[in-house]
Amino acid sequence: MDRNLALESVRATEAAAIASARTVGMGDEKISDQAAVEAMRTAFNRIEMRGRVVIGEGERDEAPMLYIGEQLGTGKGPELELAIDPLEGTTICAHGMSNAISVAAMAEPGGLLNAPDVYMRKIAVGPECRGVIDLRNSATWNLEKIAEAKGCKFNEITVVMLNRPRHHDLMNEVRALGCRIRLIQDGDVSAAIAVCEPDSGIDVLMGIGGAPEGVITAAAMLCVGGEIQGQLIFRNDDEIARAKKMGITDLEKFYAMEELARGRVMFTATGVTTGTFLKGVNFFANGCTTHSVVMRSASGTIRHLSAVHRFDIKPEIKTSVSR
Ligand code: FBP
Repeated sequence: MDRNLALESVRATEAAAIASARTVGMGDEKISDQAAVEAMRTAFNRIEMRGRVVIGEGERDEAPMLYIGEQLGTGKGPELELAIDPLEGTTICAHGMSNAISVAAMAEPGGLLNAPDVYMRKIAVGPECRGVIDLRNSATWNLEKIAEAKGCKFNEITVVMLNRPRHHDLMNEVRALGCRIRLIQDGDVSAAIAVCEPDSGIDVLMGIGGAPEGVITAAAMLCVGGEIQGQLIFRNDDEIARAKKMGITDLEKFYAMEELARGRVMFTATGVTTGTFLKGVNFFANGCTTHSVVMRSASGTIRHLSAVHRFDIKPEIKTSVSR
């Protein structure tokens, strides 16, 4: 995969981040999401590639744009699969909280799991614990292995998970061991990536979040050398039918990281609101600044990019959403 594509794709997450950042605090999740989706789609369509969305805003009948199967790019250039989340943390953005990001992952054909928009049970760790976890085993078993790999005690381990009632039993199990817990309101992609940063103070992500976010996280983990494993969780027959339509036959399957994302993969993220992972968009008169990260699994290079955008010179980056 062309390394220039990595820098091209950051324009798409930057555009989505800027557009949605204008809606921060408006309290309207739909407007925030729509702004990000429109901006990302326009930016991707300028890139020379034959892209196909495999993880997107939903299936064709439920998403007018960036739906699964939608073709993106100029129609020339390399054939690619895309997993995108123009606004990861819609609620966060709409309510002006921290950690909303715009993300996109690209892979060669067959490189990303075509996952339905259902839940996924996940475990994600940083490079130190790669190869020691196993989602088929209990949280206690995994935390023992993590403590062993890190050479620390349970009370020196912090588990990050979404603050959801469905995690009640998991929380009790983790607390009983003496591990610490950091609860997040939303945004398990950036939480999983933070697990890979030694000074984040987080050692492992556990619990149930979105399956699309699981695939996007796997692309990032491949680049940074961490690990994620997942299992799809179905709440009803409709979700099962959708999964079957996408070719999933084993409904109980545990997915290793390479079954979620494999091969040469690229991952790009831009901060919408400031968080532990990235700084958010800062507006000034006639412009703004953005902070992004671009990673490639082929080289393992992680680039942090700060950009100044001038609306007087590049008016197309301005969004129609106004307050
Ligand atoms: P959205 O940006 O699509 O709202 O996703 C935010 C998020 O918190 C994800 O990070 C997470 O995987 C998922 O929602 C969890 O879903 P739920 O809010 O239904 O528990």
